[in-house]
Amino acid sequence: KIYTASTTAPVNIAVIKYWGKRDTALNLPTNSSLSVTLSQKDLRTHTTASCSASFESDTLHLNGELQNISGPRQTACFRELRSLRAALEAADPSLPKLSTYKLHIVSENNFPTAAGLASSAAGFAALVRAIADLYELPQNPTELSRIARQGSGSACRSLFGGYVAWEQGEKIDGSDSLAVEIAPASHWPDMKAAILVVSAAKKGVSSTSGMQATVATSSLFPHRARVVVPQRMEEMIKAIKERDFETFADLTMKDSNSFHSVCLDTSPPIFYMNDVSKAAIRVVEELNRVSGRKIAAYTFDAGPNAVIYYLEKDEALVLGVLKGGLEHVPGFAVSGTAAIPEEYD
Ligand code: DP6
Repeated sequence: KIYTASTTAPVNIAVIKYWGKRDTALNLPTNSSLSVTLSQKDLRTHTTASCSASFESDTLHLNGELQNISGPRQTACFRELRSLRAALEAADPSLPKLSTYKLHIVSENNFPTAAGLASSAAGFAALVRAIADLYELPQNPTELSRIARQGSGSACRSLFGGYVAWEQGEKIDGSDSLAVEIAPASHWPDMKAAILVVSAAKKGVSSTSGMQATVATSSLFPHRARVVVPQRMEEMIKAIKERDFETFADLTMKDSNSFHSVCLDTSPPIFYMNDVSKAAIRVVEELNRVSGRKIAAYTFDAGPNAVIYYLEKDEALVLGVLKGGLEHVPGFAVSGTAAIPEEYD
């Protein structure tokens, strides 16, 4: 007999960035972060988890290719989920002993992997949810976020829709470093996001190694983590609760630039943005200046692709200006995806 469960998980794009770990094994961050979960219509990972007494080893296929899962991240997720299942089986001996069976995981992304489009976030969130569903675990998304975080830090935020904070926590064991919902997507339904795919190539420096280099070498970094981000988290939560787009946009752009500044301040320096990314920044800044208000906000993760947040009423203007402003920039291949932050089932 083969037991199976399928699920999907969305991509999230941080507006206050996670960059820096205080514990690299548990993925405990040096600062809290906040993200918006994007629509699953455009960007998501679909994952099926199966287990059977007849399976000989744990395996994971991503987009049809067998992955190495002997690393600490996958091992931690499998181990934690199995131990929660084992606790259920101990309490109810009539349950099948799924915790003792090997797992076969099959995942598909509908977007480029490792191009700075937060693929690890959706990937680990879907993996954890699929196995939790297979095991019929009672844990809520915040409790599961503790496990997804060990797969990839940003994955903990993809267990919720809408506006999600990852609270850094203080405990050494990471038990209070969890994702919580700040507001559901329905709270601010006219928020939209466009993704400008500047390059679908695999990025140069991975987030994992980049942030470790920043923590080790950047003198700007402690100021960002200890002073700038804690203040910004409070302001961002307030802006979201009040649906104050101008403040949301201002903080989003400032935090993206702050994050890329500590990357540049890393030794050797890390450059994630390219000339097209910088052209996109100029276009948005100019649009906001001419408009006399902030109507669009850019943010960049560990890669050159831009995510632009705006309100639905400004869509024609924002997308029109971006396209017009960038189509002559060498290297710009528009592949704009508009996505509404969405509820998670
Ligand atoms: C720039 O979550 O990919 O996207 O925990 O090492 O897997 P690991 O890092 P990861 O880092 C994401 C960094 C970021 C900012 C963010 O999503 O908050």
